[in-house]
Amino acid sequence: MKQKTVMKSGLDISTWRANKTITKQKESPKNRGLFVPDSDFIKDNRLNLDITYILNSAYGIPFISTDELDEISGEVIEKHNRLKRGEGDCKDGDITMLGWQSLPDEITTRHLDEVISAARELAGRIDAFVSLGIGGSYLGIEATFKALTHTYFNRLSREQRGDVPEIYFLGQNTDPDFFRDSLDMLKGKRVGINVISKSGSTTETAIAFRILRDLIEKGAGSRSIFVTTDRTRGGLKKLADIKGYRTFVVPDNVGGRFSVLTDAGLAGLAVAGIDIHEFTAGFRNMKERVSHDDFWSNPAMVHAAVRHLSCKKGKKIEVVATNSTATYHLCRWMEQLFPESEGHKGYGMWVSPSMYPENLHANGQMVQDGQRNILETFLRLINHDNRLEICPDTENLDGLNYLSDRGRDMNFINRMAVDGPAYAHFQGGVPNMTIDIPRRNAFNIGQFYYMMEKSVALSGYLAGHNPFIQPGVEAYKKAIFAMSGKPGMEKYSEDITKATARLKRSVI
Ligand code: PA5
Repeated sequence: MKQKTVMKSGLDISTWRANKTITKQKESPKNRGLFVPDSDFIKDNRLNLDITYILNSAYGIPFISTDELDEISGEVIEKHNRLKRGEGDCKDGDITMLGWQSLPDEITTRHLDEVISAARELAGRIDAFVSLGIGGSYLGIEATFKALTHTYFNRLSREQRGDVPEIYFLGQNTDPDFFRDSLDMLKGKRVGINVISKSGSTTETAIAFRILRDLIEKGAGSRSIFVTTDRTRGGLKKLADIKGYRTFVVPDNVGGRFSVLTDAGLAGLAVAGIDIHEFTAGFRNMKERVSHDDFWSNPAMVHAAVRHLSCKKGKKIEVVATNSTATYHLCRWMEQLFPESEGHKGYGMWVSPSMYPENLHANGQMVQDGQRNILETFLRLINHDNRLEICPDTENLDGLNYLSDRGRDMNFINRMAVDGPAYAHFQGGVPNMTIDIPRRNAFNIGQFYYMMEKSVALSGYLAGHNPFIQPGVEAYKKAIFAMSGKPGMEKYSEDITKATARLKRSVI
């Protein structure tokens, strides 16, 4: 009979240094007030854009030449100035959707403190917080939260989390199993929620809200419900007024995917203990860096120009890859920001978020050797929170002593997870650029967001369409409403029935 090996004790990691992500969470000042970075901090947290593998070529002719960028720079500067002056195709209805441009300077310390105080009051009396929203009312919050916190945040003790509740996200899909599983995680806990919907009428979010609202009101009552929506319009605002929920506002002139620096993002981030003063300072710093019109020292302009020329030269896919599970969610945020803003009138690149090296063993084959219609952008996290040494092994059967003998750690190898593919893919004919993110702090995430927002705004203007609306998203909503029998949609429902009846069915 086979003998069972019984482990006498659990895994002992007491000789390992403390996890710095947890240390940061525990020390995170929940309300340290205005964050004014000094010049050393700014220098140490500079986001760089490296386009070496765009301007060079393994085969002689560069994918994009300096001359081509010089040539388009005038047009980019012109679009930049139009955006600054509030001109161009930037309206949603009669509202100019350029509020995001000046937000970093307009947000006051007092306002941030008010948000923090409401968030802390709620956080102090709940065990779990659920952020409800979809698209722009969801992704930026989750991406920022994941970029800055422990991978298994909700499984840590409250003290390790920095004395804040567990954090969950719902309303981003209508998967009943996902929702039901999430309820199991919330069972028996004191739950607080923030429902975020600018329009106040988004079905996915509304369904999640209705169910959770019902459950919460049977227990803690309306005090644990935040509502973040339009200042005056929409069903959600009406409901909040009647029920007396605490409300936060998404400004009229800021679209969903540009709204992470409004209360839509800030309230939830503050509940999670993220330093929203530092986050705002990051936006402010990048705003200053990309406000001037010197093309070659403006990373948003160069980024927009490279992507625009890539698209015109036939690149259909932008693989956005990173070497950190924390910053991977920034790639997902880009997956929304760019296609929703650029994918109009037959234009735009499909953004494919990738975690390297994981995806190098999957779509990496395609990037290296498939159809040459790919542009690649790396988000390279330079300094991870923790350093992981590779231990020596006298037998060296795995052949890794070449690393441990030279004191090379997992961090070193993880940097290669960008440097290696960047070179190999360049050799394979895939132009690529790298955005360096120095470390996981709120300042850097804020900087990153503003740079991308500016870039995508320029991109829409260069392509000749309005990047601040998403008419294409409405088509699916209409179809779901009609197919699910929403009152008022009877005619469209009939049209769908007739149109689908005409189709030759083919089910194999
Ligand atoms: O960027 C956008 O505008 C969209 O992705 C919206 O954020 C998303 O559709 C959710 O809309 P709402 O906040 O109105 O529920």
